[in-house]
Amino acid sequence: MRTQVGIVGAGPAGLMLAMLLHREGIESVVVEARTREYVEDRVRAGLLEQNTVDLLRELDVGERLDSEGLEHNGIYLRYDEENHYVDMAGLTGRHITIYGQQEVVKDLTQALLGRGVSVLFEVSDVELHDIDTDHPRITYEHDGRADELTCDAIAGCDGFHGVSRETIADQLTEYEYVYGFGWLGILAEAKPATDELIYAWHEDGFALYTMRSETISRLYLQVDAEEDIGNWPDDRIWNELGVRLGDVNAGPIFDKGITPMRSYVAEPMQHGRLFLAGDSAHIVPPTGAKGLNLAVNDVRILAPGLTELVRDGRTDRLDRYTAAALRRVWRAQDFSNYMTQMLHHLGGGRFERRLQLARLEYVERSEPAARSLAENYVGLPAEPDF
Ligand code: FAD
Ligand code: DHB
Repeated sequence: MRTQVGIVGAGPAGLMLAMLLHREGIESVVVEARTREYVEDRVRAGLLEQNTVDLLRELDVGERLDSEGLEHNGIYLRYDEENHYVDMAGLTGRHITIYGQQEVVKDLTQALLGRGVSVLFEVSDVELHDIDTDHPRITYEHDGRADELTCDAIAGCDGFHGVSRETIADQLTEYEYVYGFGWLGILAEAKPATDELIYAWHEDGFALYTMRSETISRLYLQVDAEEDIGNWPDDRIWNELGVRLGDVNAGPIFDKGITPMRSYVAEPMQHGRLFLAGDSAHIVPPTGAKGLNLAVNDVRILAPGLTELVRDGRTDRLDRYTAAALRRVWRAQDFSNYMTQMLHHLGGGRFERRLQLARLEYVERSEPAARSLAENYVGLPAEPDF
């Protein structure tokens, strides 16, 4: 088989890239290891920056987002048993929207299939070849048959554990920071007891109150990275959430899991005709809600470069891909690390806890401090060109 751009991975990065390329008349094929059901049910992020929402609308896939997404104006920072409001919309003129990642994935998959773009699920043994030539290839097995896809370029959108980054591992410099803790996340059938998200600093550790709809709550608790979910029966989870967040509406929990936290960047994000995008190139701790939004930003930058390559054989833009994408990646790394270090129990003792409170109080007392947090949280405006 031959296509113009071979895309590995049907997460937000891969699907969004296929949409952007289709809009430009560029052909692509997406190969995904998992089943469609698995990818569409996988519970992950939920907070979209204005840039991400704007792009989904621009691509005509914003209809369900507009009817079901929850537009938010700010967040509460909670410490010393009180909620302190940060008015993001007032400070920046921009909004954030709560809409589950798997809903974004469902909308994009449906739109792509509707527009005739191939998304192949349950593909195994994916390998990348001839990256250093003008005709890289993806080999894989699908429907019990060995297959091969020859392309002009390959986009490695296969997440942190995919094959793409591994293929060029000896070309990369890695930057990594592993935190000793993770988040225990739940989804529950319960009306959220708050209008906006609550990020809570507490002596017991961090907690986050978020939601998916008027009737579904999503909540997170800081736990040890090695923690066993078996140690957390539902009663214990609700009890600890109440301690850290104050007023919480409990209800039946229908999903729970623990995610360890890390910060990671691989540079450069490209080699030869392979271009990494999203989690395959970088991971942020979720405290700043940046992972999904960064993945979308990468492909926003990558798509015009690939378009130029396929149409005119020119690589000027593609050559600038890493530098352009990394500007936002490192800004998000810094912000996610700042939010994480300010709000979590880091194990450093009383001095460290007092410093965290001083930082939180500074955001309350100083408009420039609040504005800085807000502009990072809602996301800097997308750069129109690079
Ligand atoms: P992914 O969504 O990981 O997509 C990669 C795709 O590639 C997957 O579908 C995978 O099955 C496929 N794939 C992998 N290997 C292969 C292969 N060899 N061949 C073919 N396909 C392959 N971010 C937040 O902002 N807030 C959160 O609360 C949050 N929670 C998270 C919870 C979890 C458990 C995880 C893992 C991540 C979370 N994130 C969160 C991060 C956010 O979900 C990611 O940043 C986002 O999914 C990145 O999108 P992506 O398309 O780059 O990668
Ligand atoms: C959600 C996740 C985050 O990591 C975050 O910072 C805010 C919201 C969410 O799942 O809704």
